Amino acid sequence: MKQVTITGIGSYLPERILTNKDLEKIVETNEEWIFTRTGIKERRIAAEGEMPSDMSVKASEKAMAMAGITAADIDMIVVATITPDMPFPCTAAIVQGKIGAKNAFCFDLEAACSGFIFAMETARNYIATGSVKTALVIGAEKISAITDWTDRGTCIIFGDGAGAVILQESNGSNGNIRSTVMASDGTLGDLLKMPGGGALHPASHKTVDDRLHFLKMTGKEVFKHAVRCMGDVGQKALEKCGLAYEDVDCLIPHQANIRIIEAIAERVKAPPEKVFINLERVGNISAASIPVAMDEALKSGRIKKGDIILAVAFGGGFTWGATVLEWGI
Ligand code: UT7
Repeated sequence: MKQVTITGIGSYLPERILTNKDLEKIVETNEEWIFTRTGIKERRIAAEGEMPSDMSVKASEKAMAMAGITAADIDMIVVATITPDMPFPCTAAIVQGKIGAKNAFCFDLEAACSGFIFAMETARNYIATGSVKTALVIGAEKISAITDWTDRGTCIIFGDGAGAVILQESNGSNGNIRSTVMASDGTLGDLLKMPGGGALHPASHKTVDDRLHFLKMTGKEVFKHAVRCMGDVGQKALEKCGLAYEDVDCLIPHQANIRIIEAIAERVKAPPEKVFINLERVGNISAASIPVAMDEALKSGRIKKGDIILAVAFGGGFTWGATVLEWGI
């Protein structure tokens, strides 16, 4: 099996900022409640015609530039998203068309907020077994498109954006992905879902009237599972490659809620300087959360070559997962 590493990374956030103050005009809430209960001050909202594929292209161009490759070098594109441009064709193929990656095969992967970890592990396997050389892995979301702006339990936490990485074989001195662990529990799917638009509830006047085309979440329950599952899966991923939490230089948790992040950090005894947090500015961007945070951690000097990074995610399904990597760029 070949060792696989990230050779390029990039992210993109839409221009429009939606502040907590702005939300006071939309739902019965207040700035203070949102900040103290979630840690979020503002989030980015994509423009009306700005699609997840457009945000993916912007993030991917930066990742390709860092890796020193062109679109023609890409063998596969995987987009992790719960908000594809449309049910099909897949957003990965739309991205392929837009960047001109004519040699790539493309598919989307849906594992909600854990999608990027699942997609990266999928692509890693293709490279590890030698079936592809270069993969573009993207987490991209326009959650604002499935947000119920009358539901104060959800509309306050989500945002839009995209992050992308280029995965290639490691040359032995540019880091590697050490281990990944993924898990799911389909018995708890009802706690976080969008019921409409699939075969169960195809779009109709009734599904629109019943507000089935919006994200629904039982926040308190999701919260409890998120803390437990992310702490446990991080531990398992570290054990799998012979490391412990003390070895981690930077913990990058899914940016869902500051209280979830603090609870995980406390469970695993991670000091604040080792935990990367950007949700104050971006909110919860679902599958884009980890790659955007990873890119911002790199650009702000919180990650450097040789560091051990642990990324942990949790989302609808339920799905959860963790990746340990040695940073190589
Ligand atoms: O990304 C996938 C994973 N997602 C997550 O991990 C999200 C997990 N869940 C959460 O982050 C939190 O559950 C929320 C931020 C969504 C909600 O926070 P909470 O502390 O669980 O609030 P709650 O729903 O239990 O509500 C507590 C109180 C209620 O009032 P009463 O019944 O105690 O009088 C709510 O009606 O706060 C009220 N409330 C609000 N008040 C002002 C709920 N939402 C709001 C709001 N503004 N936006």
